[in-house]
Amino acid sequence: MNKTTVISAAIFTAVCATGAQADELNVICSAEQEWCELMVAAFEAENPDTEVLMVRKSSGETLAQIRAEAGNPKIDVWWGGTGDPHLIAAEEGLTQESGASTDELLGWARNMSDISNGRTVGIYAGALGIGYNSEILEERNIEPPACWIDLTDARFAGEIQVANPNSSGTAYTELATFVQLFGEDEAFRLLAEIGENVNSYTRSGSAPSKAAARGETGVSIGFMHDMVKLASTGFPLEIVAPCEGTGYEVGGLSIIEGARNLEGAQAWVEFALRADIQSRAPEADSFQVPSNSNAEVAPESPDLASIKLIDYDFATYGSSDTRARLLTRWDAEVGDPNPEQ
Ligand code: G6P
Repeated sequence: MNKTTVISAAIFTAVCATGAQADELNVICSAEQEWCELMVAAFEAENPDTEVLMVRKSSGETLAQIRAEAGNPKIDVWWGGTGDPHLIAAEEGLTQESGASTDELLGWARNMSDISNGRTVGIYAGALGIGYNSEILEERNIEPPACWIDLTDARFAGEIQVANPNSSGTAYTELATFVQLFGEDEAFRLLAEIGENVNSYTRSGSAPSKAAARGETGVSIGFMHDMVKLASTGFPLEIVAPCEGTGYEVGGLSIIEGARNLEGAQAWVEFALRADIQSRAPEADSFQVPSNSNAEVAPESPDLASIKLIDYDFATYGSSDTRARLLTRWDAEVGDPNPEQ
């Protein structure tokens, strides 16, 4: 190849790369795969010139990725996943103001925007709970749990599955919920005791309930709407709102600082906040409560008003220092003896 050919090839590559960037939108999705795919298809249908490249990753893992890519981000927009890591990303300057209107949103969704100075916004809410496989527990003659404290009982030895709070936003919500319900020292004591009954800590927050639905574990901790999804498809999964009360998530939506396709990211944010788009979640069997006050709430969605919810302190538990401190303590006092690779 002579020098001219090499230069033309370089120009050609650069032109292609620039052209491709204009039309590609890189989305990281931390909700369930089916819903992520539905959103991508719906967005592309309205924006035929945009190709959405989407990957699904748990909330804590996504935070780790965007920290690692700070200054040279590969992602334009982060849709879904628990709100705390979105708030932490905002605090660390990893995300930027979206400029989206929050007028139609419910108070808990606007709260996320207020705490983060417009860098994240709430898209859905869902409560944490306990799931159990009624056939498995009956077979093994184990009385089902009604309270968090029940999970410390030796009758659940080897029967509980839950995610790891380092990777999973669901499990971090559980950790923060225990600290708010019981006080920090007691929370870690209880989590370590429950840990004695845990058969594995998964990376993703919905994996334990899927395992319980399939009968691979007796009990799971996770979001109730993920359990509803499994129960509605016929699995013998029962859902418990723990007697002490429980915490909840507000799913986040953020544009990454330095996003290459800022215009596309802003279009995604507006799209994802629309009532008609949020109303489509049940098509993907996703039953969170939508943040747009005009969106339809699926009849299957757990009714948050009838669950004893704590007044989850998102400003505190969505701060970088608090999360780092609690995770260090979790690793030391609870810990995962067999971390997934
Ligand atoms: C599931 C739930 C979402 C939640 C997400 C968190 O997909 O349906 O409501 O935000 O889990 O995922 P993670 O893997 O971070 O716990």
